Amino acid sequence: MKSLEQEFPDNIETLWINADLATMKPGHPYGLLRDGAIGSSKGKIVWVGERRDLPQDFKSKVKEVFDAEGGLITPGLIDCHTHLVYAGCRAREFEMRLQGISYQEIARQGGGILSTVSATRSADEETLFRESVPRLASMMAEGVTTVEIKSGYGLDLDTEARILRVAQRLGNEYQVSVIPTFLGAHALPPEYAGKSDEYIDFVCKKVLPHIAKEGLARFVDVFCETIAFTKEQTERVFKAAKDHGLQIKLHAEQLSDQGGTQLAASYGALSVDHLEYLSKEGVKSLAKSGTVAVLLPGAAYFLREKKIPPIDLLRQFKIPIAVSTDCNPGSSPVVSILLVMNMACILFGLTPEEALRGVTINAAMALGMQEQIGTLERGKDADFVVWNVSEPAELVYHIGLNPCRHVVRHGMLIRSNEPYN
Ligand code: NIG
Ligand code: FE
Repeated sequence: MKSLEQEFPDNIETLWINADLATMKPGHPYGLLRDGAIGSSKGKIVWVGERRDLPQDFKSKVKEVFDAEGGLITPGLIDCHTHLVYAGCRAREFEMRLQGISYQEIARQGGGILSTVSATRSADEETLFRESVPRLASMMAEGVTTVEIKSGYGLDLDTEARILRVAQRLGNEYQVSVIPTFLGAHALPPEYAGKSDEYIDFVCKKVLPHIAKEGLARFVDVFCETIAFTKEQTERVFKAAKDHGLQIKLHAEQLSDQGGTQLAASYGALSVDHLEYLSKEGVKSLAKSGTVAVLLPGAAYFLREKKIPPIDLLRQFKIPIAVSTDCNPGSSPVVSILLVMNMACILFGLTPEEALRGVTINAAMALGMQEQIGTLERGKDADFVVWNVSEPAELVYHIGLNPCRHVVRHGMLIRSNEPYN
């Protein structure tokens, strides 16, 4: 059975031993390998297996050996839906909601997203960057190695482009992969009040072409909702996205069932996100298109949403489920991916394994990056986290404890957290 043996390459730069590996490969729970080892070279994983399969003389064949001290190694976590770059804060609005005024009512009164739009428009690039860094740093401290960041708090050409440039700069200055998404159709800006079709024209004809030409975004997203844009308007943005070669995502069925999911699926969307009000027709359409369902329990929690996404139907139709923070100032001021994994289990009924798939391989699918990241497999980026836990479910079980001990990105140890290092 020689052919089944994994060849041990002689160019391994780093090898981590003495760890259980949650590879997240499909087939068995967590793709777990007990007492495993993982080797990398030139930023890629080149060997993954059990320690007993290492050659006797492995130490002489490897440049550097790291001892994971009995921890658990998972793929680097992926936060596939955030609005991390914005200015200002909505704590005053939070107080209003606690007094009984709804999220929708605040939005109708010109607060909500629009209050962040005005703070963001008046912030220069440096201010936006400075305000966003602490949020990113907190995410990275919990083992996030890839983060998607949406625009959508500018709603004019300059500010949308500025947000996306700041997102790009975050990825250049910090050890994290930033995937930028253009969300120009997030809300109707005040200068277009009563003229939403004209705003959509502006988005499709002016802003989106500029963003595409400058290479500022990989994806296009829309907020399809009663307080945002209709299905028809959403479709116009999707058409423009296709014309410019950008893949699509959608904020769908968050507060009501608009049928946005079926529309997004018909355009081959990578993901539809939120989904508390998703119908069975919607789920069926996802099964056909292979679109990922991204759940955002932080927003459901923060808005005290009683309805939960149709988890059993999603399972029945084998829809890949991802989980993300939705980090934003209005509906989910949450930076903790570990907390939203816990919320996904407690509030939505996911299993801990589904929650971990939701922030690894399924989140990678939501970004179209499943060939590159999301599992511990040969050929993928060597992005992984060493945790101070003995069981994978422990990652989801603690609240407010950060068991992240080391983070490796592109094969290099980029972080060792106190007090574990
Ligand atoms: O994902 N749903 C729309 N957009 C954000 C909320 C934005 C805000 O309130 O600032 C979300 O929940
Ligand atoms: Fe969102």
